Amino acid sequence: MCGIVGYAGSGDAPQILIEALKRLEYRGYDSAGIAVQENGGLTIHKKQGRISVMEETLPKLKATVGIGHTRWATHGEPSDANAHPQVDSSGDIAVIHNGTLENYADLRSRMEAAGIEFNSGTDTEVLPHLIARHYNGDLLAAVRAALGEVTGAYAIVVLHAAHPGEIVAARNESPLVVGFGEGENFLASDAPAIVKYTQRVAYVHNGELVRITADSIEISDMTGGTREPEIEELEWVVEDAEQGGYAHFMLKEIFEQPRALQESLLPTLAEAIVEGLDLNWRIGSISIVACGTSFHAGLVGKYVIEQLTAIPVNVYHASEFRYSPPVQNVGGMLSARPLVVLISQSGETADTLAAARVARQQGSHTVAICNVGGSSLAREVDGILLTRAGPEIGVAATKTFIVQMQALYMLAVHLAYSRKSMDQPQLRRWEQELRRLPHYVGQVLERRTAISKLAGTLQSANSIFFIGRNLSYPVALEGALKLKEISYLHAEGYPAGELKHGPLALLSPETPVVAIMSPDHTHSKLVSNIEEVAARKAPLLLVAQEGDADAQRLSPHVITVPATDPVLQPFTAGVALQLLAYHVADALGCEIDKPRNLAKSVTVE
Ligand code: G6P
Repeated sequence: MCGIVGYAGSGDAPQILIEALKRLEYRGYDSAGIAVQENGGLTIHKKQGRISVMEETLPKLKATVGIGHTRWATHGEPSDANAHPQVDSSGDIAVIHNGTLENYADLRSRMEAAGIEFNSGTDTEVLPHLIARHYNGDLLAAVRAALGEVTGAYAIVVLHAAHPGEIVAARNESPLVVGFGEGENFLASDAPAIVKYTQRVAYVHNGELVRITADSIEISDMTGGTREPEIEELEWVVEDAEQGGYAHFMLKEIFEQPRALQESLLPTLAEAIVEGLDLNWRIGSISIVACGTSFHAGLVGKYVIEQLTAIPVNVYHASEFRYSPPVQNVGGMLSARPLVVLISQSGETADTLAAARVARQQGSHTVAICNVGGSSLAREVDGILLTRAGPEIGVAATKTFIVQMQALYMLAVHLAYSRKSMDQPQLRRWEQELRRLPHYVGQVLERRTAISKLAGTLQSANSIFFIGRNLSYPVALEGALKLKEISYLHAEGYPAGELKHGPLALLSPETPVVAIMSPDHTHSKLVSNIEEVAARKAPLLLVAQEGDADAQRLSPHVITVPATDPVLQPFTAGVALQLLAYHVADALGCEIDKPRNLAKSVTVE
């Protein structure tokens, strides 16, 4: 949450900051602001609303060093006063912050008692005042001392009028990356912000500070110890972070799915597939832990891993796991160590990171399925299975969901083969089918027009239920989540068999039901559930494979997906439901890439 950028060089700082911020707008969009060094002082410009609002009102500035912020409000409502940067009483120190300071109320009341006047309702404002109190000519030392007094999560960038050309930054729990340019250097909360300018980055670790100028980058810790930055080359290119002619990032990312699947597919599943961790030990149980869409990918993964390996799998919301981990893990008493698989596209979700730490404390081995190689999660786990979907900008996850499922399928096949519950011909068949996924997904994308026409069946609904059984149940959950996130229509996913235990009471001609049909062993049961819905006169929209005669009989509104093995249907039906949600939201005129109140990367609890 909240996007942060910093620039020190000889270029047009305001323009570079705004352009970089726009690439980070998915992190928050309640307000935006920049601070630049100009004429021996700081110029600050900030506004409630989108970055474009701040940009339109920006006076002409001449500056080559500055910091910028796009906010997702935690403490203090969205307003000009609460927008960042926040400044000290002299206006010489400007601070931008992502995260939450837990002890800010205490610090604030002590400072107010000492006569310091506060001008915002943010937790952040304590920082510039604290830095001012510790400042003695050395900005880095003052920031270090100030951070010694705060608890909580932060990534900050700091500018001081008396330190021309210099930005000090620091990180604890919230992400921060440094970009190395030629005669210019960058800071950002995420790499897509700076990928246009440089591919050479270094990730700042927890408890570290950075001082950058146009020609230098120094990383130090809270005790003053220094380390050389470990420079990594980003695989992403600037086009990955641009809309490329599509009406929305979400649509672009939906259409990137065949490529994302291709790029993420590992050539063979017989060899070790998790980097950094050998899985050749007796895995007693697997816990899959994630948030949001990644959680739904985990639910699909559970079915497949259990079917192929017979290892019991449980799936947890990270926010629950971190405070109530499964009891069988406690104390490492088992002869077989549990495996905990953490799924996160960003690798920065606060709850998922905390869950990873809890799992490790309990003695579990941890594996991350993650789309960002240098992320906090990727660095904290024992092993990593990297998905290669490229940066995802639309707040509603699409392509990363598809490759997360693919990663879980690959993991399931690998575990089954290495444990001899799958023989070589079966392995080959699986590898072959997984190679066909981009083709199947491509076929769904070709049906976009037909799907967009069916979107009209949901637009004026009061409420929509998505139902499915077996593997289609998590797909129903994800379909409902996609729709509610971007269209603001109330939607709920349900196991089809549970309808009669409550939701049936809500069905009416204004409450459509979307049923995901699959030619698996639950097909006839789902047909009965669909009949129950029809009897209550609720409109039916069906997702079914080509040639499903029941679907054609049960409703005039059918989204057909290619005929595949039922186990692959989460990929095709998942994509069909993404397109459905997209077209409903588009027809309703919603802000698809930046839904209200949401953010792409949830780095606070
Ligand atoms: C936010 C995003 C979702 C995402 C979830 C988990 O809620 O809006 O799209 O699924 O976070 O994010 P992660 O990066 O951990 O997969």
